Amino acid sequence: MDVPATDRAASLAAYHQAQVLDCVRCPLHATRTQVVPGSGDPDARVMFVGEAPGYHEDRLGVPFVGQAGKLLDQLLAGIGLTRDDVFVANVLKCRPPENRDPQPAEIAACEDHLLRQVAIIQPTLICTLGNFSTKLLSGRPDGISRVHGCELEITLGQTPTLLYPLYHPAAALYMPAMRSVLEEDFARIPALIAAADARGGAARSDPDPDPRPREAAHPTVVGGDGAMAVADDPQHAPDPAEQLGLF
Ligand code: URA
Repeated sequence: MDVPATDRAASLAAYHQAQVLDCVRCPLHATRTQVVPGSGDPDARVMFVGEAPGYHEDRLGVPFVGQAGKLLDQLLAGIGLTRDDVFVANVLKCRPPENRDPQPAEIAACEDHLLRQVAIIQPTLICTLGNFSTKLLSGRPDGISRVHGCELEITLGQTPTLLYPLYHPAAALYMPAMRSVLEEDFARIPALIAAADARGGAARSDPDPDPRPREAAHPTVVGGDGAMAVADDPQHAPDPAEQLGLF
């Protein structure tokens, strides 16, 4: 049986209030303006997970409000969705200084926040944007250029879901040719939502009301259609964007 949206929203707000908004689990708390927990509909079927807040996000407390966010909005509009239809979060909830890459210790310190968000929202589809969220949630080292557009059934904690890796929208800001790749990958999202719902993934249980931190749960791959098998292809060369470490 599905859960009223108000319950999920209340659980998420309680967790953010109790554990996220004043978080000091890593040194980024000293340089942030504010925590950027996430935004959108806590009852959404679809969750997008980016990398970390940038300058504008740090100022406003909302993810994806800069140039990459504008492109994310356009990509969503292309498949008939708005930011109000999805929930958007990041691997890190605080801005790394000078927008540098997240460091392993920061990712480890922040991982529990993301997993608790997933446990409360119970999305049937999680779209990872870029390398950091893809590697973290897939539990695999394969880069985004190999696995973008390749869905994978996983279980995060107690939540069965479909992981769908996508290039980070910032990739298309650096390399405009990436936009059509992003558009093609986004175009499959409505069918993936329908398939996830048809498989019964939409049967969500009560949102986890316990706002206490707990052990980070690493993903268990429970199935999949082999779509990520390309990741094992030793002939597959990483693309320049990935080699630059941008995405
Ligand atoms: N890039 C991200 O990964 N997250 C944001 O919130 C903004 C830009």
